[in-house]
Amino acid sequence: MTFYVYLRYVYIHNFVMQMKEQKMANPFRYGEVVTGEDFADRELELQELIMDLKAGQTIFLISPRRYGKTSLIMNALDKLQKEGFYTAYIDLFKVSSFKGLLELYTEVVLRAVETKIERFNRFVREFFPNIHPKVVINSDGSPSLELDYEVKEKSAGKLFDEVYEAPQRIAKKRNKNFIVVFDEFQEIANLNGEAIEKGMRACFQHHDRVGYLFAGSRRHIISDMVTNKQRAFYNMGKVMPLDKIPREEFKIFLEGKFTRTGFSVAEGVLDEILDVTENYPYNVQFLCHELWHNCKDNRKVSSDDITPVMNRILYGQSAVYVTLWNTLPRHQKRILVAIAASGGENIFSKDFIRDNDLGAASSVQTSINLLMKKEIIEKGIGTYYIADVFFDAWIRKEMM
Ligand SMILES: Nc1ncnc2c1ncn2[C@@H]1O[C@H](COP(=O)(O)OP(=O)(O)OP(=O)(O)O)[C@@H](O)[C@H]1O
Ligand SMILES: [Mg+2]
Repeated sequence: MTFYVYLRYVYIHNFVMQMKEQKMANPFRYGEVVTGEDFADRELELQELIMDLKAGQTIFLISPRRYGKTSLIMNALDKLQKEGFYTAYIDLFKVSSFKGLLELYTEVVLRAVETKIERFNRFVREFFPNIHPKVVINSDGSPSLELDYEVKEKSAGKLFDEVYEAPQRIAKKRNKNFIVVFDEFQEIANLNGEAIEKGMRACFQHHDRVGYLFAGSRRHIISDMVTNKQRAFYNMGKVMPLDKIPREEFKIFLEGKFTRTGFSVAEGVLDEILDVTENYPYNVQFLCHELWHNCKDNRKVSSDDITPVMNRILYGQSAVYVTLWNTLPRHQKRILVAIAASGGENIFSKDFIRDNDLGAASSVQTSINLLMKKEIIEKGIGTYYIADVFFDAWIRKEMM
C-alpha cells in the first residue's frame, strides 16, 4: 500500500467514524447554553441586539425562564468579538456581595482584554492603579482577582468608580469598543440594589464606547427599574422582550436535527411536540432529546411515542417536583392545582375562588405574588400560568 493510499484510507476511515459518531450522538441539548448549530433561528433578535449594542445602546433583555436569553446573548457576544469588540459577561447568580460583584466585574474585564497570564499584572497596574486587585491563580491554572477589602471600606466610591469606568477607559486607550452584559440582573435587588443602580447609572451614562446589556427573567422587576421615575435606571435604555422561537422556524430546526441523525418523523409529530411543550425552547429540546433516545434503535418517531416519553420525563423529574411541592404552603398548592386544572383565567373572580375553596381574594393575591416571586407561576395576558410546562403536567397527573 502506498503512503498516498494509506492516507486516503485513514481519511475515509476517520470520515466514516465521524459520520457514525454524529449519527450516534443525541443532537438535542437542554439545560445548557446553546450556540452554533444547536441554536435555532432568532435571526431578527440577534441582528437587532448586535446592531443596538454596536451603537452603544443600553438594552434590557427580558423573558420568562428558559426562553433562551443567555444563549442569544452568547451568540451575539461571539459575533461581536469576531467583529473586533471586547466582550465581558457577568452572571449575577455568581455574586453574593457588592465586593463579589466588583471582583467579578474586574475579572471579566481583565479576561476580555488580556489572554496572557504574564500580562495580567501590568494590565492591573495600568487600569486599576488605585484598587490593587491581586491576581490569584486557581488550582486549575485559571486566574481570578481578589480585591483588598480594606481599600473598599475606606473609599468605596473611588473603588467602584475605578471598576465601572474601566471598560470605557480601556476602549478609548486601545481604540476598541466594549460590550458588557449583566445576566440575571434582577439579582441586584439582593445586593443593596438601589445604591448599585445609582453608582452604575452615574458612570455608565457617560460611556460612549461601551454597549451595556442587562438581562433577566423577573420581568416586572426589570421593567419597573426602567419605567419607574423614582428609579436610577429610569429611561436608561430600550426594553427588549424575548418571545418564544417562531413555531415554523423551530420545526425546521427540529426536523433537521432528526433527519441528519437518520431519523424519520411521522407527519404531525413536530406539531404535537410543540403543543405538549407549549413551544418552550427548553422543554421542546428536553422532549426531543428523550424521544431521540427512546427511538434510536429503529430511528422512527411517531405520535404514539409522545405520551410514554412524556410520562418517563415526568417520572424522572418527580423527585425535583415532589421536593418543590413539599416546600409550598397548602394555599399555594391549591392555587397551583386550580390553575393547572383551569388554565389560569379569571383567578380573582368570585366563582373561581369559591369553586376552588381559596378563601379571601386578598389571600389569593398574596399567594400569587409569592408564587411569582419564586418564579413558579408567570403572568400572561389576562391569565396566570405555571412557568414549567412539565411541572404543570406533573400537577395534572399526580395532584388531581
Ligand atoms: N435559539 C435556541 N435554539 C434552540 N434551543 C434553544 C434556543 N434558545 C434556548 N434553547 C433551549 O432552551 C434552553 C435554555 O436556554 P437558555 O439557558 O439560553 O435560556 P435562559 O432564558 O437564559 O434561561 P434562564 O432564565 O433559566 O437563565 C437551552 O438549553 C435550549 O435547550
Ligand atoms: Mg440564562
